[in-house]
Amino acid sequence: MIISFQNQKGGVGKTTLSINVAAALALTGLRVLIVDSDPQGSVRDWASVREDTPPFHIIGMDRPTIHRDLPAMTENYDHIIIDAPPRVSELARSAILASDCVVIPVQPSPYDVWAAKEIVAIINEAAVFKENIKSVFVINRKITNTAIGREVKDALQVYNLPVLDAQVCQRVLFAESAATGKTIFEVDPLSQAAMEIQTLTNEILKKYD
Ligand SMILES: Nc1ncnc2c1ncn2[C@@H]1O[C@H](COP(=O)(O)OP(=O)(O)O)[C@@H](O)[C@H]1O
Ligand SMILES: [Mg+2]
Repeated sequence: MIISFQNQKGGVGKTTLSINVAAALALTGLRVLIVDSDPQGSVRDWASVREDTPPFHIIGMDRPTIHRDLPAMTENYDHIIIDAPPRVSELARSAILASDCVVIPVQPSPYDVWAAKEIVAIINEAAVFKENIKSVFVINRKITNTAIGREVKDALQVYNLPVLDAQVCQRVLFAESAATGKTIFEVDPLSQAAMEIQTLTNEILKKYD
């Protein structure tokens, strides 16, 4: 399956979720590729601070030809994750057209709910060329023991897209692991963060694969 993490807003967790969901998939022995389509090259930067080889392959494709060029690679992988850039809408469109499923991370804040309007508009435009695009929100950086996750879930209803049941909380392990080019599974496989990513990955596979 080709999954892209998309949002025109930066800092919502596209790269963090791409890397760690890819890691969850690779843990089960599957062949996984991350397409770094952000010209900033965050996944490539992440890999460059590692000492050893990452548990999945990484390529940079930051021109709007992803939908044209990616199909040639699909047979070498069980799953491909596209880490999409903020702002650049041609790249977002190309990545959406290449994807089986678009996952939109949103932080539990009204600003994120409003900002999601942009990516939803791009998805709706792309749906003209590709019917039945499956897209779904995921709440990331939820503060534990608050009701804000539920409130945001309700607020997102205006976009008429599903919201995953799995939510990822604000956990310092995500930033700590990224700093050393590691996935959370390599740093602490029994952490809450690892469990949340595993639950998210399972839900995406179960509902959209
Ligand atoms: N669930 C989380 N808990 C704590 N920090 C997070 C979480 N998700 C993302 N971050 C941090 O937020 C920042 C932005 O995340 P990033 O994945 O780079 O967003 P994007 O790719 O959408 O711009 C990074 O410093 C990352 O470590
Ligand atoms: Mg990013």
